[in-house]
Amino acid sequence: MSGPTRLYMTTNLPKPPKRDLRYQFRDLEKIPVKVWEESAEASAYVAQSIALAIKQKRQENENIILGLATGSSPIQVYNELVRMHREEGLSFQNVITFNLDEYYPMEPTAVQSYVRFMNEYLFDKVDIRPENIHIPDGTLPLEEVEDYCREYDKKIEDYGGIDIQILGIGRTGHIGFNEPGSWLESPTRLVRLDALTRLDATKDFANEEDVPYRAITMGIKPIMQAKVIYLLAWGQHKAPILARALEGEISDQVPATFLQEHPRTRAIVDRAAVEELTRFRVPWKVGLCNWDDDLSYRAVLWLSQQTGVPILKLTNEHYSENGLQELILEKQNSYDLNIEVFNRLQRTITGWPGGKANADDEHRPERALPAKKRVIIFSPHPDDDVISMGATFHRLVEQGHEVHVAYQTSGNIAVHDHDALRFVEFLDEFSASKGQFSDPLIAEVAKKTKKIRKFLEKKNKEKNDLIDIPELRLVKGMIRRGEARAGARAVGLTDEKRFHFLDLPFYESGRSRKKPLGPADVKIVRELIEKVKPHQIFAAGDLADPHGTHRICLNAILLARQELKDQQWMKKDCYLWLYRGAWMEWPIHEIEMAVPFSPDQLRTKRRAIFMHQSQKDRPPFPGQDEREFWVRAEERNRETADIYRGLGLAEYEAMEAFRRMRDL
Ligand code: F6R
Repeated sequence: MSGPTRLYMTTNLPKPPKRDLRYQFRDLEKIPVKVWEESAEASAYVAQSIALAIKQKRQENENIILGLATGSSPIQVYNELVRMHREEGLSFQNVITFNLDEYYPMEPTAVQSYVRFMNEYLFDKVDIRPENIHIPDGTLPLEEVEDYCREYDKKIEDYGGIDIQILGIGRTGHIGFNEPGSWLESPTRLVRLDALTRLDATKDFANEEDVPYRAITMGIKPIMQAKVIYLLAWGQHKAPILARALEGEISDQVPATFLQEHPRTRAIVDRAAVEELTRFRVPWKVGLCNWDDDLSYRAVLWLSQQTGVPILKLTNEHYSENGLQELILEKQNSYDLNIEVFNRLQRTITGWPGGKANADDEHRPERALPAKKRVIIFSPHPDDDVISMGATFHRLVEQGHEVHVAYQTSGNIAVHDHDALRFVEFLDEFSASKGQFSDPLIAEVAKKTKKIRKFLEKKNKEKNDLIDIPELRLVKGMIRRGEARAGARAVGLTDEKRFHFLDLPFYESGRSRKKPLGPADVKIVRELIEKVKPHQIFAAGDLADPHGTHRICLNAILLARQELKDQQWMKKDCYLWLYRGAWMEWPIHEIEMAVPFSPDQLRTKRRAIFMHQSQKDRPPFPGQDEREFWVRAEERNRETADIYRGLGLAEYEAMEAFRRMRDL
């Protein structure tokens, strides 16, 4: 795919079973669903549909009315529309837009304002007429809001309703900010945000307390009157609510279910978002399946977990009683199938993540040779290496591999101002104690710290609206560098030449909304890979972090690999292993390497995570999980070990899990 959309990943999730005519999933999904491998392709499809409609209306000398959303879901659609405007001359002169919502109260210039969002992603970059743009006004006095909302709906009606409405879906099932409890006929109005929505919004606000309690949202009624609706959902974190919206009963508790009544709504989704739909989660429940090895493996693991019976104790009855008769008929008997699945699962376990020299590696996740491998562990933020694979990191170093760790971003937005201030004070005291203000270098530092202090005072007064000045960002980045070095040292890596701080430019926006990934980012990653020529790359595959940084960082690696794919060492010798950690874990059937560890090794990992002091207790952007990172990591690693034990394998304290990506 050309243009900016090329910069997105190909997920390596298992393919869904071949579609069989006898599938009855349409009965379950009450809104037609179009599943795309990647959100970029899906977004390009939506953008093209919009562009086509704009052009058609233009030919008929008519305006087109678009209902627009903000949030992460429509961003790639807007990017693609902007590209079409720039490269293909798509004009927005006949476009009239109505946005779904705006926080209340909210100044249009504020970093989190939806006015600013729309300007930055779309309106400033195309030739839309300013008078054609409508976004709920977050600055109105309270007593004027009701009339304003009535007027908003009337304007939409006067234009003949919305032609194409773009929607995202919130974890509460909200569309727009129509939270649970909203009714079908609800008009545009002032609403209270659900606690979960406010928690999700902390990804854009420095603190939860700063997230407004209210918003103005277009009502369900005007949304339902749109002629065509595209409901967008990307990523695994959307999977549960998407399943409820598409398969659940219509209920005001999940407002997106109202869309089931709309005749021309399409859900446009990526592979990760459909994981919880019945036909993907348990395809054997909705019809006949093509029982290849992967699907059989998945079904048996599911059955064992479902029944609580270890794999080798599953009987034909367990299969029949749980809707897996077909599988047993196909495989003849449960005994052989159980053994097959058990062996495959057992072979994922290894204490030798870099391969075991002198061992038969036919069934091992990693090659035996070369005995000493070159390894790069890519860490999107400065702490993902130890949070997600601290124990494996330790093993790789201990087992004598040449381990490099590459911190992809500075992580500077996730340091509290009060922590930065401590370091600024440290610098000041150090300078003063030396009594060397005459030294030009120290005088220079003092000038900078003064500037930072002044800025912090101003920021404190004006709340969270200011973007950190470069000097403060530098201090914050340095704090994280120091922690990263200490963390890596705690798992045994001492050679400083093997620490690489890439500070990818896409991240350096000073705010949670990042710049798009560009050639400069990919070049930095490519150059490191070229220099080290690793046999193994470990990269973050947990694509649900709050700001999408992990996804962008993985894309940078994938694109760098693409650029290097013609080199023999890359194509043949370089395995790419994906880890997950802070945000979610692999489903068990996707794990290809599970590295078990002991209680002592778990303690070492915990100590390494503790080195990240700026992230302790309450980091600035904790995401939707309130637990501290070390707790999340341990609970996930213990849970993986528990699942293996429950399936009938050996009992370990904890396990880190990896999946190999075969992208070349
Ligand atoms: C945004 C809006 C919301 C979002 C929803 C999903 O204008 O009205 O309903 O669409 O919260 O947000 P993202 O896309 O960020 O996951």
